[in-house]
Amino acid sequence: MAAQRYAVAVQKGGAGKTTTATQLAWGLAARGKRTLVVDLDAQANATVTLLGAKSEFPYTTTDLLFAPGKAPTLQQVDNNLYVIPATLRFSMAERQILSLPPYESPFLLSNALKRVESGFEFILCDLSPALGGVFVNAVIACPTIIAPAEANHLAIQGVPDLQEEIARISASGVAGGPRTLWFLATKCCEHQMAPREALKTIQGLCGKQLLRTRIPRAAAVEQAMGKGLPIFEARFRDSAAQAAFTALLEEFLELAETAHA
Ligand SMILES: Nc1ncnc2c1ncn2[C@@H]1O[C@H](COP(=O)(O)OP(=O)(O)OP(=O)(O)O)[C@@H](O)[C@H]1O
Ligand SMILES: [Mg+2]
Repeated sequence: MAAQRYAVAVQKGGAGKTTTATQLAWGLAARGKRTLVVDLDAQANATVTLLGAKSEFPYTTTDLLFAPGKAPTLQQVDNNLYVIPATLRFSMAERQILSLPPYESPFLLSNALKRVESGFEFILCDLSPALGGVFVNAVIACPTIIAPAEANHLAIQGVPDLQEEIARISASGVAGGPRTLWFLATKCCEHQMAPREALKTIQGLCGKQLLRTRIPRAAAVEQAMGKGLPIFEARFRDSAAQAAFTALLEEFLELAETAHA
């Protein structure tokens, strides 16, 4: 059976894409859902978070996209959790995509995921902060795009562009079906005026596209990500961040079930 595919993407850097993709993946795997993380960012932050600082892999996302004949090797992180890592070589991806004919270049990821998705319930693709060819591939490959939106006034500026871009790809028909966009409010500080105002603006711009879970700005998130640990571990038990990511996991599973009912 085909896996449910999700792209975690937004053109704003540091909004929480990698944090969302990796923590959600850990949470899903802990609930017994076989999950694959696909690192589509040459910064390789998801790879480092999940696997530690290794730089040599037998198979990477550069192979996934550009070497369709090569047999995939997935890296196992945990029970039920695997990753296709990225290395710095992936920084060539945009140029390589541009060099391919237009009937081929947007469909590389969509076709590639068919070769690796067997046995997985969920695929989470972590993207770099850009709306280029890899992004278009991800939107075509993944029916749902999760866009972390940082609650600050600079981050908000990109929201309408992202909505427009995804609506255009959806409307063009190339994706073979409508795309769903979920915004996730991240780094929220309810007790500070400016972020609170920013969150209100996000609510206004995103409407029903905004997930109900709010991820707080919290030291526990930075600690977990810095050490490459699931926020669900016992040491983070009393943190608001663990409660928020648990709520996100519940909301995600609820929506995923409805979408595929
Ligand atoms: N809720 C949070 N509270 C505090 N720090 C956070 C939170 N979410 C993410 N961070 C920190 O912010 C930084 C950026 O997060 P992350 O790497 O997830 O963003 P990103 O959108 O993937 O960035 P990029 O665009 O570079 O890929 C990291 O250092 C991370 O630990
Ligand atoms: Mg990232």
